[in-house]
Amino acid sequence: MRTNNAYFLATIGALVSANVVPQMGRAVAGTLPAGWSYVGCKVDVGNRILSAANEVSASNTPQTCVAFCSGQGYIMAGVEFSQECWCGSSYNPVAGPVQSAADSDCSSACTGDSAQTCGGASRIQVYQSSGSSTTTSTTTTATLTATRQRGLAWPSDNNFDPAIFKSPKVGWLYNWGQNNSPRNTEFPFYAMQWNADGIGSLATNAKAANAVGILGFNEPDLSSQANMSPEDAASYYSQYISPLSAKGFKLTTPAVTNGGPPTGLAWLDAFLAACTGCAYDYIALHWYGGWIDDFTEFIDSAKKYNKPIYLTEFGLAWDAQAQASNYEEFLPLALSYLDSEPAVAKYAFFGAFYSGTGKDMIAANGTLTALGQIYTS
Ligand SMILES: *[C@@H]1O[C@H](CO)[C@@H](O)[C@H](O)[C@H]1NC(C)=O
Repeated sequence: MRTNNAYFLATIGALVSANVVPQMGRAVAGTLPAGWSYVGCKVDVGNRILSAANEVSASNTPQTCVAFCSGQGYIMAGVEFSQECWCGSSYNPVAGPVQSAADSDCSSACTGDSAQTCGGASRIQVYQSSGSSTTTSTTTTATLTATRQRGLAWPSDNNFDPAIFKSPKVGWLYNWGQNNSPRNTEFPFYAMQWNADGIGSLATNAKAANAVGILGFNEPDLSSQANMSPEDAASYYSQYISPLSAKGFKLTTPAVTNGGPPTGLAWLDAFLAACTGCAYDYIALHWYGGWIDDFTEFIDSAKKYNKPIYLTEFGLAWDAQAQASNYEEFLPLALSYLDSEPAVAKYAFFGAFYSGTGKDMIAANGTLTALGQIYTS
């Protein structure tokens, strides 16, 4: 293990104003509040080694990060990839043994101060306080664990800012792709492997996007969508997606429709039978139908898998005729059911965009429609 005492500039007991001279290509430890000291440059691949809370900031520095983490009662803070700040009160046990990295790996300038370094790609500079943690289990909710059920199915060409949905209700986002949407800094991101295209890049991209989970293929039971046989899908899933479970990603099965056999749950049955030994944490479903009874019946029929359900799209099948008023009547019924049904872990209404139809949760001018207001309240 390599130490970096030469760059250990923090002084216990006082806020020092030492000259922090940027070292070309070397980690620079910032000066810190009393009791905080620099631990070192660490590897941070897969599950985050500090995972209790985080923020991404254009003004990130070791000092702002320590303030952010200590403000929430954490005794460890880490800066990574220039803009990221991660907190904890111990290393995340799920991430495995913490490995030190070369100082030269932690040479990315901080977004908030180019004279200081804030880790690097998959490298985090860790700081620790000699004090004790003041957090309790109820205050350690991590932004990136996506604890809230309600999410955004956010098309990749949707250029509005997802932050308009910021509310106590909405807590995650996916966009049918492996990479986060450029404007999404608000919501934890789930990476989706849409079909087999680009599946070899999934692990790298999901990690780079800080994805909290992986969503399987999109409607592989439909020829107009991912269009995969259960056997082909199982083969790809087994090779490329299932192993990511050991890397700490929560995995979701391919998302099937509520169509009849051989689509829908029949397709999912065949997939699960073919995917011997495959890891998955959640069952993914889509529903488009008539009204609430059909909706709840479909969810009920998927309880046989004994896995929490991710309903990653839903809407009214008579979409072309459905008016905003129909959706304004249907959505509260659906949300009330989903929020009280323990089998449902996550869901996303198909309407987080502007399309000029009744299901839109965003108006042409970028404000929330009445439907969007229902979704955020
Ligand atoms: C945006 O459009 C909606 C719907 O047309 C309208 O009710 C609202 O007043 C508009 N808001 C702004 C700020 O222009």
